[in-house]
Amino acid sequence: MEIQRILFTTNAAEALSEALRLTDHDRLFVLTDAVTAQLCWPLVSETCREEQLVTIPAGDDHKTTDSLIHVWQSLSSGGASRRSLMVNIGGGMVTDLGGFAASTFKRGIRFINIPTTLLSMVDASVGGKTGINLGGLKNEVGTFRNAEEVIIDTHFLRTLDADNLRSGYAEMLKHALISRREDWAELLRFDIFRPDFGVLQTLVEKSVEVKRRVVTEDPEEHGLRKSLNLGHTVGHAFESLSLRTGHPVLHGYAVAWGLVCELYLSCKRTAFPHDVMLQTAAFIKETYGTYSFDCKRYEELYELMTHDKKNANGIINFSLLSDIGQVCLNQAATKEEIFDMLDFYREMMGA
Ligand code: GLY
Repeated sequence: MEIQRILFTTNAAEALSEALRLTDHDRLFVLTDAVTAQLCWPLVSETCREEQLVTIPAGDDHKTTDSLIHVWQSLSSGGASRRSLMVNIGGGMVTDLGGFAASTFKRGIRFINIPTTLLSMVDASVGGKTGINLGGLKNEVGTFRNAEEVIIDTHFLRTLDADNLRSGYAEMLKHALISRREDWAELLRFDIFRPDFGVLQTLVEKSVEVKRRVVTEDPEEHGLRKSLNLGHTVGHAFESLSLRTGHPVLHGYAVAWGLVCELYLSCKRTAFPHDVMLQTAAFIKETYGTYSFDCKRYEELYELMTHDKKNANGIINFSLLSDIGQVCLNQAATKEEIFDMLDFYREMMGA
């Protein structure tokens, strides 16, 4: 895959107009969701006509084939060619779905991502994973295709609601856990409830650097990139269960609770330090509260984990740690170990 340009800016409109000048294209299309639409127009009003705006409903439950078809049809009826360019402005749902629509339309057109949520800045918009959900399973269908450029303007975070800010913060915590103890300690000290946005900007830059390093080394997840899945095997199962039961939780919250489980499994299997696991779990309980379920849900959660993309031959594979920054990939766990992990989670988190 081509190298991805990532630009930090304090003026997204200016950065976008420069990116458009440098990226030769015939037609421009701008994808956004109904909530982000107000943020989007001032950025593109000089370069894009209103009919080139494509809007989809907001929320992960709309990361579906229906939304995808709407985007494909808008591109087609708007006369998009292989030389056309799409700009995805929004959270992870928009950058994932928009990237997938662009990467498949006429076998692939170029796109630029402008993430407006913390989750999308530090994770979804960087590294070329695109996709949609299918049949209640997260990102079941997708491609690897880098954006031409990712434009990150942390000013958007000043208007982001507190829940979505915390959701993105969970991915930053994951990045710190797979990289450096100092970064992990800094995140546990930072007050995400009353954020200093200047400090948050530097934390975001560090976090994106972790992601950039990993995806540059292993763009298509043959090895090292699996480390970015820490917390996600269980996290995705929690997220899918929450959708099924009609009480959806934000992705980052599910990942945070998944981190508690997978750090516990890391203690059991790969000698991760117990005190670090307990400190992290306490931080997560205080910041994210608890996802509650009883033991009658264990089989269902286990079944959901069997769909994880890291699995092979029906074995559930985890990305674990032996210490902060020390990744242990392809760690198969038995059903008994997984149930024990869920017992620990419920006891630790008061679920
Ligand atoms: N969000 C995990 C990855 O990009 O690989």
